[in-house]
Amino acid sequence: MKKVVELRCGSVDYFGIGAINRFEGIMEQYRKRGITRAGIVTGKNSYRLSGAWDVVKPVLDKTTMEYIHFDGITPNPTVDQIDEAVNLLKDIEPQLIIGIGGGSAIDASKVVAVLLKNTGKTARDIYTGRFKPFEALPTVSINLTHGTGSEVDRYAVATIPEEYDKSGAAADCMYPEYAIDDPGLMLSLPGKEVLYTSLDALNHLVEAATTKLSSPYTVMLAKEGISLIHRWLPRALNDPADLEARYWLLYASVLGGIAIDCAVVHITHPLEHTLSAFRPELEHGFGLTILLPSVIRAIYPAAGRTLSEILKPVVPNLKGTPEEAEEAASALKDWIGGLGVTQGLSDVGFSEDDLPELLKYLRKSQGESGSLSLAPLPVTDELIIRIYRESL
Ligand SMILES: [Fe+2]
Repeated sequence: MKKVVELRCGSVDYFGIGAINRFEGIMEQYRKRGITRAGIVTGKNSYRLSGAWDVVKPVLDKTTMEYIHFDGITPNPTVDQIDEAVNLLKDIEPQLIIGIGGGSAIDASKVVAVLLKNTGKTARDIYTGRFKPFEALPTVSINLTHGTGSEVDRYAVATIPEEYDKSGAAADCMYPEYAIDDPGLMLSLPGKEVLYTSLDALNHLVEAATTKLSSPYTVMLAKEGISLIHRWLPRALNDPADLEARYWLLYASVLGGIAIDCAVVHITHPLEHTLSAFRPELEHGFGLTILLPSVIRAIYPAAGRTLSEILKPVVPNLKGTPEEAEEAASALKDWIGGLGVTQGLSDVGFSEDDLPELLKYLRKSQGESGSLSLAPLPVTDELIIRIYRESL
């Protein structure tokens, strides 16, 4: 009770079926504030395939909002892509940034909003820690996946490719002013994205409940969110058109976003970030989920009580004692396998020979060392190697 914790909820999130229709009201609010020029940040296709653009474009036209659109954000976006977006968008001097997409586009849009407010700075300045932002343009995040939680938090992840450094930046000025979470926009997600994004949310919930910054609030969020994912993910995988399943998975991912906003992440995310810095084609949620059983095995002796509570839907009979670590890790692995993730790191191109390099670049990452220090046990080099090795 003497631990002072952060209870964060920094964005106004319109959540539910049809939430995209709130976009018009949001734009009218901005018009009243004298905002008439917007920069739009997306990937190549999902902003259209999801149906979001069918609502957004007519509203922009109707409210006579001038805009420029950068559609070059890829999964695992780089600092160069962000700088490229800034260079394109600055032509109209945007007063507002609208990000439409999953975590990659939304994260990039937040950093673009910072850089357009702080001219002369680059994305590398932020991700190397040379520049700490305090101001940004207002952002609106239209979320298209039920995994990221980025639409309600102050984080943005990007990769410095030459350093193999994929890490998160965080600043209070990076909260989206408005977020839109509409499960109806997620029905076109491919099946593997349904799985991987949901498992990203699961990892947010597990980590935020067990960092040194965790609180009764993040544990509560994790209990609820994991229970929802356990119940609704099989239904969404079985029937991609099941809107009720998407609603609850999206709700779980928002809980995950709020949870990491309060209590950050610890081991699984930094270790995964280094994997996908080396192999940008690796899906974030997929990489996390490969690592998760081994991370649970490692942290269970230090965080067994919380893990036994939050993992109850998956492993019902845990009491939280250290000797249950193997049982918890194995049961989780079986559940994940049943959902469709049966691969190890060796199936996605990593081998024992890669482990020293992964460790070296993970240790070099300033951003990720902060997260590792929040783990419920000391994260030694040996532990990192062990987790990667067990996950091969
Ligand atoms: Fe994540």
